[in-house]
Amino acid sequence: MPPISPIHVAIIMDGNGRWATQRQLPRQEGHRAGAQAVRRTVEAAIRYGLHTLTLYAFSADNWKRPQIEVNTLMLLFRSYLTEEVGACARQGIRLSVIGRRDRLPRSLVSLIEQAELKTARGQRLHLRLAVDYSSRYAILEAARAASNEEEFRRALGPDVDLLIRTAGEQRLSDFLLWECAYAEFVFLPQLWPDFDEAGLRESLRQFWSRERRFGGLPAASARQGGEPGSTVLRGARSCA
Ligand code: FPP
Repeated sequence: MPPISPIHVAIIMDGNGRWATQRQLPRQEGHRAGAQAVRRTVEAAIRYGLHTLTLYAFSADNWKRPQIEVNTLMLLFRSYLTEEVGACARQGIRLSVIGRRDRLPRSLVSLIEQAELKTARGQRLHLRLAVDYSSRYAILEAARAASNEEEFRRALGPDVDLLIRTAGEQRLSDFLLWECAYAEFVFLPQLWPDFDEAGLRESLRQFWSRERRFGGLPAASARQGGEPGSTVLRGARSCA
């Protein structure tokens, strides 16, 4: 078992379409199964003591998909926010949504605002859903709004410790580009609807087996005369 992991995990949930196609189902069914995997993953995130979990639910480029698919996804976000907000509040999960709001249906924006308000005091896990999200856009907006680096960093959010992408692709797809500067990457072959606690456990196991250096020296070399503070211990938190 990996240790309790108070880290920031971000997931690119890929493979819903392929999961459906393999079963000769419409793509929307893959997204429905994907929403169930989201529920399982949030439960597992609590069990593993994650500090923050950021899920890439809808990119700014996903508007290019067929209307029926976009509508299904919007409906799934709506259901998730409506059905899970009570459980989130009870379990100490703070729910927030990152990304643009000006292109979302007004009724969805209002559900997001209510969910954020009702869960604002959650301390156990910060669950962030990225909806109509583009990292390049977020960086531009933060740069426009901030008058110094501290404000810029705060506008973007916490550094990512572990980035997981399912379904075999190995790219960032405009997700948390700045925040992943020192993230560890785990790419899993399984399709998102099949993701479960075992997938998270395996990803955390890989994370904890790696040595993060943040540009310093490996621990062994540092002990032989590296500068103090020039190394980072195995799996240590980026913000520690
Ligand atoms: C990528 O798979 C997945 C998406 C674009 C949407 C992710 C949405 C969910 C997991 C469900 C709803 C989420 C919440 C938070 C309730 P793809 O469709 O690109 O898969 P493919 O590459 O196999 O076609």
